[in-house]
Amino acid sequence: EKGGYDHFMLKEIYEQPRSIRDCMRGRIYPAEGKVQLGGIKEFAEKLKNIDRIIIVACGTSWHAGLVGEYLIEEYARIPVEVEYASEFRYRNPIITEKDVVIAISQSGETADTMAAIEMAKEKGATIFGVCNVVGASIPRITHAGVYTHAGPEIGVASTKAFTAQVTVLTLMAFYMAQQKGTIVNSKLVELLTELDCIPEKIHHALESNEQIKTIAEKFKDSRNCLFLGRGSGFPVALEGALKLKEISYIHAEGYPAAEMKHGPIALIDEEMPVVFIATKNSSYEKVISNIQEVKARKGVVIAIVTEGDTDVKKMADYCIEIPDASEAFLPLLATIPLQLLSYHIAVLRGCNVDQPRNLAKSVTVE
Ligand code: F6R
Repeated sequence: EKGGYDHFMLKEIYEQPRSIRDCMRGRIYPAEGKVQLGGIKEFAEKLKNIDRIIIVACGTSWHAGLVGEYLIEEYARIPVEVEYASEFRYRNPIITEKDVVIAISQSGETADTMAAIEMAKEKGATIFGVCNVVGASIPRITHAGVYTHAGPEIGVASTKAFTAQVTVLTLMAFYMAQQKGTIVNSKLVELLTELDCIPEKIHHALESNEQIKTIAEKFKDSRNCLFLGRGSGFPVALEGALKLKEISYIHAEGYPAAEMKHGPIALIDEEMPVVFIATKNSSYEKVISNIQEVKARKGVVIAIVTEGDTDVKKMADYCIEIPDASEAFLPLLATIPLQLLSYHIAVLRGCNVDQPRNLAKSVTVE
């Protein structure tokens, strides 16, 4: 049932070219520059006039929400707030009928996310679900939704469900932009054509597996690890840190790279691995100066870089390449090596990667 892989987690990491393809099937029409989302079609008109979007979720799904925030604001120009469901539900938040709440949940059973939905529903908001498990509780209490179609995820640490959530949110951002007219059709043709090739690029990113395993050996005994990124590389850093801590029990933190000098920099010494999302995009130069700051303090740098990069390579101790892509699709690609890195570190430490201690696949109590 593990399809020849040692663990479900590894199998699910390798399934991503296919799960992302499944997630996009019948929803994108690159040649026409068109996105179709049957699940929320009846709200197409409403989407033209909404004031804001509130994304609620927990854990990894919340990280996907942060990526969604960047994309929706960039392309559809709708203000987005991303909330931990557990905080949102107890805060007496301001919600109106003109708000759309997007609840993201792999299992569709998370107690806090369900409670947040019920509360927002009572206040008149329109609720969309982004779930993986078909027919779970959340899809039944939302007004509409878009399934991620990643297939069953057995490993407790979310991998393919996360990238499918990010894919759905990307599609939603493009769909809303199309409805609102905040994107020209030629741009959408360009973006969708590129998105259509992302599964192939993920396949390519997976080819670094052996190299990542070698890097994992160097860091398997680390006690701490910092993950830094900027822009949409920031949620990727958070997700990288969560993956590492939950399956390897190494203390890890994700931060926006620029926040480093406001505190975490104090932790950096020769014992401290720092993982940078340092791909070629709008924040590349800034990330490079952050890398220099870490190197000046003798930190060990592992960088996720764009194929063919030369600048970061001069500074970083280890570089893992991913295929070049537009900024919009970077989170999908940059996540892959981080999943593999935490997987190999956890295996080398003898951890139960598919069922980490104290964790459950769906958290049905608050
Ligand atoms: C991390 C992980 C958890 C879940 C969280 C929300 O790998 O799996 O952080 O993301 O418990 O679960 P869902 O998405 O089912 O609501």
